[in-house]
Amino acid sequence: MRDMKDKNALHTVAAALGAALLAASAMAAGDAEPPRRIFAETEAQRAQRIAWWTHDRFGMFIHFGLYAVPGRHEWVKSREGMTDREYDRYLPRFNPDLYDAREWARAAKAAGMKYAVLTAKHHEGFCMWDTKTTDYKITSTKFGRDVVREFLDAFRAEGLRVGLYYSIIDWRHPDFTVDRRYPALQCLPLGTDVEAVAAKANEGRDMARYRKYMFAQVEEILTKYGTIDILWFDYVAKSEKLGKTWRDYDSVELIKLARRLQPKCIVDSRLDLMETDDGWDFVTPEQVKAAEWPTVRGRRVPWETCQTFSGSWGYNRDEATWKSVPQLIELLSETVSKGGNLIMNVGPTARGTFDVRAMDRLEGFAKWMRYNSRSIYGCTVAPEGFAAPNGTALTYNPEAKTLYVHLYDYPMGFLPLDFIDKVQYAQFLHDGSELLLRRPVAHSGGQSGDTKPVGGVSLPILKPDVVVPVVELFL
Ligand code: GLC
Repeated sequence: MRDMKDKNALHTVAAALGAALLAASAMAAGDAEPPRRIFAETEAQRAQRIAWWTHDRFGMFIHFGLYAVPGRHEWVKSREGMTDREYDRYLPRFNPDLYDAREWARAAKAAGMKYAVLTAKHHEGFCMWDTKTTDYKITSTKFGRDVVREFLDAFRAEGLRVGLYYSIIDWRHPDFTVDRRYPALQCLPLGTDVEAVAAKANEGRDMARYRKYMFAQVEEILTKYGTIDILWFDYVAKSEKLGKTWRDYDSVELIKLARRLQPKCIVDSRLDLMETDDGWDFVTPEQVKAAEWPTVRGRRVPWETCQTFSGSWGYNRDEATWKSVPQLIELLSETVSKGGNLIMNVGPTARGTFDVRAMDRLEGFAKWMRYNSRSIYGCTVAPEGFAAPNGTALTYNPEAKTLYVHLYDYPMGFLPLDFIDKVQYAQFLHDGSELLLRRPVAHSGGQSGDTKPVGGVSLPILKPDVVVPVVELFL
């Protein structure tokens, strides 16, 4: 009962504040909906622009910021309702002295990742590059180095594409209006008049001024550091009652700015421009194993699922729910089997390294990808008429006309395939050893009883020493 009451109270507050925010933003940006198309680029041109990304399939996300110091999730400031002052006690402690971006880049490359995206700024507002827009930045700390620049240099040197994550949410800027998940509105004593707290906190705040700051920051990261292949904006918290919309951030102008400064840059879908056809390049289902290829207005669209090893994005020392290597390999191949990309996150420690648990998972990927990456790069969903047997997923390389069966549950001696008549040759991918085809045979009568004709490939009884063995089928 109490819960219900609290919930209702929150809804009312949310509605009131939401309305106030909306009114403010409508005044700022007018009532118009975003245009259906923002750019002149055609669908074919866009497919061309993002072709490297859809080919490469596998990237690394890196959430690195001040939150690495508490080591309790990148949302710690909001989760624990900290004031700026409370949060800033981490500033003098942030000294990632072991940070060596070349080590990170080598680990990503060995894991088979082809691109990497680093948090230039997360919701906390702390900047990991040497910005001119604020002093709340890494180069003003004892550490003093430009983390973003070193990241970009090192990953490019390893031949990886590079991207930056930029949080449009900012819990530090004095003009960013408070919304439902704002730190100052969390953990208030029961019975607090949240609406009053929010109204007070919003006094004198002006999103127009914040926008100016945000645009200047985005301009910096897109002009000071050479080619940025991916820009990962995060996020318009629209679904939350007390949230904002694309108007609060002037998302249309923001993406225009981004594409003007970096015309080839691939941009994610979190600016609340889903009503447009081209205010986003790919959709971003978070922490889900998609059951099918996501669609927008009925059409399959480029997609990337972002995933953590353990639940949080920033370093979280005490989190124990780490995914196993087999689960992670399954996640990768499952994703590709639905035509998507996987961006796998690492949250470096406050010393600037990937911890042992992360290294263990990355090495698991490395070991598997070394022999099986052919079933990932350039691959997508299998054509119509090719159904995955139980306990497997299919990926398909349309250029090579090869089909890959990822064996999550290793079958006993035989893999039934109801499309065996379309297969010319089969082998294990990890060692290139032949797997004999068995054309459909039926049993009728006699001691075996009656069975339906079933074809497939013969497998050794012993599962090879590969977490997820892959059968390569040449069509
Ligand atoms: C979310 C979270 C965030 C994380 C991100 C990654 O929206 O706010 O902490 O950075 O998703 O996808």
